[in-house]
Amino acid sequence: MEIKGKKIMFDPFIRHNELAKKIDIEAIKADYIFVSHGHDDHTADLVEVAKKTGATVVSNFEIVSWAGKQGLELLHPMNTGGKWKFDFGMVKCTVAQHSSSLPDGSYGGNPMGFIFITDEGNFYYSGDTALTYDMELVPAAAKLDFAILPIGDNFTMGVEDAIAASEMIECSKIIGVHYDTFGYIKINHESAKAQFTDAGLELLLPDIGSTIEV
Ligand code: NI
Repeated sequence: MEIKGKKIMFDPFIRHNELAKKIDIEAIKADYIFVSHGHDDHTADLVEVAKKTGATVVSNFEIVSWAGKQGLELLHPMNTGGKWKFDFGMVKCTVAQHSSSLPDGSYGGNPMGFIFITDEGNFYYSGDTALTYDMELVPAAAKLDFAILPIGDNFTMGVEDAIAASEMIECSKIIGVHYDTFGYIKINHESAKAQFTDAGLELLLPDIGSTIEV
């Protein structure tokens, strides 16, 4: 994601992700890495990518403390409900209904999502989450241009709940994430897109390594 010239990354899962084998980790540039929770499919490449890019890691207090113990120094701790004005715009942390242990088994704090409020547009990155009534608070924080929601089911919301979430957050353009990487969360892309279309919404499923304008 690029906002005001700043490159923003979320939950790096590259070298340890079968589907991302063609991504060159050495070529990644990032100014910030936002981490929604501690699970290894969100933090496996965090330390390596943060060290290589010199990006500031933004996450909950516990994950930022853990990142500090791994030798990272550019850190910004936040927690649910808090907001902060960064050089690219405002970020507000939201409730996510999930879990958040770190790869070494240590406590990963509460999982979070992030609402970005910027001059170039507003969006919501929900992180791994169930459908939750907390999402009804999102439109009060920002009128969204798009949202990034999990759609893979089993560990998070599936397509039906992501459609209900889109209605709660009052956003019609959704980028789907958290699908296909494991056997439990393989989805049928065409039927997922059709279900969103039938609900008057748009589901984008960009190819790995591709770039989209939103
Ligand atoms: Ni998770």
